[in-house]
Amino acid sequence: MHVITWGCQMNVYDSARMTDVLRPLGYRPVDAPDTADMVILNTCHIRDRAAEKVFSELGRLRVIKEARAAEGRKTVLAVAGCVAQAEGKEILNRAPFVDIVLGPQTYHRLPEMVARAARAGGAVIDTDFPVEQKFDFLPEAAGPQLPGGVSSFLTVQEGCDKFCSFCVVPYTRGAESSRPALSVLAEARRMVAGGVREITLLGQNVNAYHGDGPDGGTWTLAALMRALADIPGLDRLRYTTSHPRDMGDDLVAAHRDLPQLMPFLHLPVQSGSDRMLSAMNRGHGADDYRRLVDRLRAARPDIALSSDFIVGHPGETDADFAATLGLIRDVGFAQAYSFKYSPRPGTPAAGAPAQVAEPLKDERLQALQALLREQQDAFNADTVGRTVPVLFTNPGRKPGQLGGRSPWLQAVHADAPATLIGRQAMVIIERSLTNSLSGRLVEEDRTSGFRSTERACA
Ligand code: 5AD
Ligand code: SF4
Repeated sequence: MHVITWGCQMNVYDSARMTDVLRPLGYRPVDAPDTADMVILNTCHIRDRAAEKVFSELGRLRVIKEARAAEGRKTVLAVAGCVAQAEGKEILNRAPFVDIVLGPQTYHRLPEMVARAARAGGAVIDTDFPVEQKFDFLPEAAGPQLPGGVSSFLTVQEGCDKFCSFCVVPYTRGAESSRPALSVLAEARRMVAGGVREITLLGQNVNAYHGDGPDGGTWTLAALMRALADIPGLDRLRYTTSHPRDMGDDLVAAHRDLPQLMPFLHLPVQSGSDRMLSAMNRGHGADDYRRLVDRLRAARPDIALSSDFIVGHPGETDADFAATLGLIRDVGFAQAYSFKYSPRPGTPAAGAPAQVAEPLKDERLQALQALLREQQDAFNADTVGRTVPVLFTNPGRKPGQLGGRSPWLQAVHADAPATLIGRQAMVIIERSLTNSLSGRLVEEDRTSGFRSTERACA
């Protein structure tokens, strides 16, 4: 089988789970679609011309499927993910050679769908939001997403009830729901036993997590992370993506109390204008966000922030856009993602009057990205000369080099022995490149009490 994944980290995680669920049926991952007896497109609907991308990829796969059929080989074609959820029927109309269409909540039913597709010879569609939780039915994760992986994602929460004006997620991923804490802890322990040292907890609104706890109560994300921090060998914890409204006091306190929780937070704000934030149905103002950042920095002074921004949401004026630039200047971001607003069918903003003209969106995006780039460069330059713990995750591009991440999610390269993969080591940052840092391992004689056997620092 061959899985093509678009979109967010949750799709990456889901693709791995689909691979796991099909393993008992004899399917094994292969690198190219032309040698695969099953191809899954795991799609994303959040922005841009998502459906068009899917149809053009399907056109390519149709040719492969037909060529294989001429040689007597069958290819099962499945479309999964958020485009499948939103446009399932349209997919089967426009691409009748697709065998399976399945939404994000029904991956546990994939083996049954494969069997039905083989039996019936017709297309199978399953875009329900079933009452059962797919996590109760998916097999245990086979391990990290990459063989020998050091850093892994773990989905703890899915869906969203926030209904931001511009966003399809509440429609494609469904209502907010959280996995029970014990199931998350068990998966985390298995990952760590398999060599994982860093886990990023995933959810569309991960900080709205409210899972059943083993004590009969409801656990918040902070409670879950406190329990995860007790797992020996789990050196680093991260979580993404968060909503400012769900940043509870206990979560802010976790940033103060848990050394494993990395000082980096992706906290989308979308706009710095109160008028736009209200039009977007975000449920908070620009100053609420500024105050929240102050609370986080009081709890963890070295915390670095990342965010998402949308320019050109319907109704956005020059003054609104200027307010966004103002918020960015006030907060100072280590990195950020920014997007031109793109109407998603069925969302409130798509039908709103006062859509912003495309050239104006382009202009604003450029200005916004220039400012964010400046801040990112300044943040990276600030690390130069400092000694930071790097978790080495993979061989570097040059022989003798390893790649890893700083606590602030910066990619770091350094000459280091392969035995350091999976371990944290202190690195002096020497240079800041466009999207990464390079440095050298701290020599033992330069750091008091830092013998080679103790180099792994966490
Ligand atoms: N247009 C542009 N950007 C969008 N995002 C979500 N929906 C849209 C849209 N319709 C962005 C938001 C969100 C990120 C994942 O994608 O900034 O935080
Ligand atoms: Fe979309 Fe808003 Fe929910 Fe984030 S909080 S997933 S932007 S609706």
